[in-house]
Amino acid sequence: MFPDIRPRRLRTTAAMRRLVGETSLEPRHLVLPMFVADGRTEPWEIPSMPGVYQHTDESLLTAATAAVEAGVGGLMLFGVPRPEDKDARGTGATDPDGVLNRSLAALRSELGDSTVIMADTCLDEFTDHGHCGVLTASGVVDNDATLERYTEMAVAQAESGAHVLGPSGMMDGQVASIRAALDAAGHVDVSQLAYTAKYSSAFYGPFREAVGSSLEGDRRTYQQDPANRREALHELDLDLAEGADMVMVKPAMSYLDILREVADRSPVPVAAYQISGEYSMITAAAANGWIDRDAAIAESLLGIRRAGADIVLTYWAAEVAGTLS
Ligand code: PBG
Repeated sequence: MFPDIRPRRLRTTAAMRRLVGETSLEPRHLVLPMFVADGRTEPWEIPSMPGVYQHTDESLLTAATAAVEAGVGGLMLFGVPRPEDKDARGTGATDPDGVLNRSLAALRSELGDSTVIMADTCLDEFTDHGHCGVLTASGVVDNDATLERYTEMAVAQAESGAHVLGPSGMMDGQVASIRAALDAAGHVDVSQLAYTAKYSSAFYGPFREAVGSSLEGDRRTYQQDPANRREALHELDLDLAEGADMVMVKPAMSYLDILREVADRSPVPVAAYQISGEYSMITAAAANGWIDRDAAIAESLLGIRRAGADIVLTYWAAEVAGTLS
């Protein structure tokens, strides 16, 4: 007996596979997360993320310009203050001369509107306890007091020139509070990429080193439990009702089912963040010769796109954009 239907016919040549490929990866889909550190005189390669750097003010501009020339869709900036500048309220986050706000302004003046400049709107890099918000007397993250700090941070970032804010702290009501504060300050065109479904993940490990986080303990009272799916859809409804312009699922590779469901329901663009641990795992396996690095990177990004991401945040954004364009 011979099969009547042979799907292999469409796999016979590279040209045929290219013709019928369902999902594509283009430079514009990729956003590069970048770290800028206060007080560095040389870029510092993050040991757990080989190939990713804490930038100086100067090297940030060079690397950002190169990424834009390679065609990336945008940049997402994280600030790393000096340890002595951290405090319980994350004061550095709202200081116009703080590392993040200062660097956003420098990026905007260098790059103008030639790319989309995004800012991490979260306190964890700036607090001495390492949590994403301010704490109550008993040491729990205080949701509503944190919202006040986020609104101040959001306005500072908008004034520094960010096009998009990425509230990543998973406080209830953060998108609505930030929207109201931005509008009241006249920043009606500054948009929000809401971290809609952000899970409490072991894969953030290398990021803690990347930003010099002083966190002890975990973020389970505010980030989502990896066991939950329905909760992500509830968070989606809330973020949309609160005015999110784009929504995000994070991490990416262990949450592709969530990404698919969010993408199927979302009326706004959907992003996924291929996080530090995902980067480091592929990098480490490739360094050991266990997987083909470039093929694994391409496959991981295509998988995230296939699961429904319009936009992918990845530490390989500039490199991959360069090979695609
Ligand atoms: C919080 C934040 C984190 C990441 C992005 N924003 C860390 C966390 O939630 O613990 C992680 C990104 C990565 O791991 O690449 N400001």
